[in-house]
Amino acid sequence: MAPEAETAGAGDPTGAAGDADKMHFRRMDEGTDADFAVLARVHEENIRKLPDLLMGLLTDLSADEAYPVDRLEHSLQTATRALRDGRDEEYVVCALLHDVGESLGPFNHGEVIAAVLRPFVSEANHWMLEHHPVFQVYFYGTHLGIDPDAREAYRSSPYFDRTAEFCALYDEVSFDPDYDSEPMSTFEPLVRRVLAKTWTPPA
Ligand SMILES: [Fe+2]
Ligand SMILES: [Fe+2]
Repeated sequence: MAPEAETAGAGDPTGAAGDADKMHFRRMDEGTDADFAVLARVHEENIRKLPDLLMGLLTDLSADEAYPVDRLEHSLQTATRALRDGRDEEYVVCALLHDVGESLGPFNHGEVIAAVLRPFVSEANHWMLEHHPVFQVYFYGTHLGIDPDAREAYRSSPYFDRTAEFCALYDEVSFDPDYDSEPMSTFEPLVRRVLAKTWTPPA
């Protein structure tokens, strides 16, 4: 979002009114084609910024000190294991970002990142992201008095095995302080490629 658009009110005579880079309506139903061309550009710019936003949120997870490794390292480790296992680019990006919604969605972090990445990834990877938390419970549920087999509610899904495998091979094992993870710079071009997409209006 353009900072100028946030600080200068629509129609402000001292602002950028008349500027081709600004929308001028007070109500959306009074907007012009030119206004909505600007709106489209703003959304396209937001898509362009999304890789940096997500990698920034991921980097913020390094502040966490309670886990054996911080959640940035956990994410890098998860993605590194997937990369070294020969997974495709989209899968590796999902592995990297799978926990990025933890701060925003402490009750449903899988749904948060699944929703963000839905326009960019396959149905299989979207389902895997959305449901990975309940599949992860398989490995620790007894310690919290919850059912480790809660994932069985999803046994009929075509993506059950994919999600169980993601958790077993990459997610649940990636709290190892001695693992040699790739740095973020290894994954940055993958993130940019997977998230490269032209904006389209809600339909
Ligand atoms: Fe998770
Ligand atoms: Fe995780």
